[in-house]
Amino acid sequence: MSHALFPGSFDPFTNGHLDLVERGVALFGKVTVAIGRHATRDPMFSLEERIEMASEALRGIDGIEVTAFDGLLVNAAKELGATCVLRGVRASSDYDYEAQMARTNADLSPGFETVFLAPSKDTAHLSATLVRQIASMGGDVSGFVPDCVARALNERFKS
Ligand code: PNS
Repeated sequence: MSHALFPGSFDPFTNGHLDLVERGVALFGKVTVAIGRHATRDPMFSLEERIEMASEALRGIDGIEVTAFDGLLVNAAKELGATCVLRGVRASSDYDYEAQMARTNADLSPGFETVFLAPSKDTAHLSATLVRQIASMGGDVSGFVPDCVARALNERFKS
């Protein structure tokens, strides 16, 4: 069994994230969802809210943990005992950023491996940014996020 770290902002956790975690755990045996801070973005949901939503969305799936990390991803991976990092690449527009992070992390920590998964076809178009935008304008996001996240978004934007 291997242990993959799945890092991100998860602001909020979407069905695309769920797809990657489920497929990651089938491949690696153990996946830790590691909620970090994006250097240039202020999150809509607090760290505690994002941990709670991801934990609830993943409840009942064996081999999953949800945690937060601060600082460098390579250090978090070492501390948590992960053997690789898992990231999703939805389209070519994701690739440059993801490859840059993967190579920089490998420079910072030789031997550090990033594994990319293409999303399933039903979730390839999903993004947390679009989900936030739709919810903030009163749109229905229930097809894009787990139920607990849809409830949290409805609560946040109810008028
Ligand atoms: O999915 P996101 O929102 O793009 O996640 C970005 C995240 C949190 C994975 C990334 O910003 C990150 O790894 N932050 C930790 C800081 C770090 O290690 N920076 C150097 C990476 S090259």
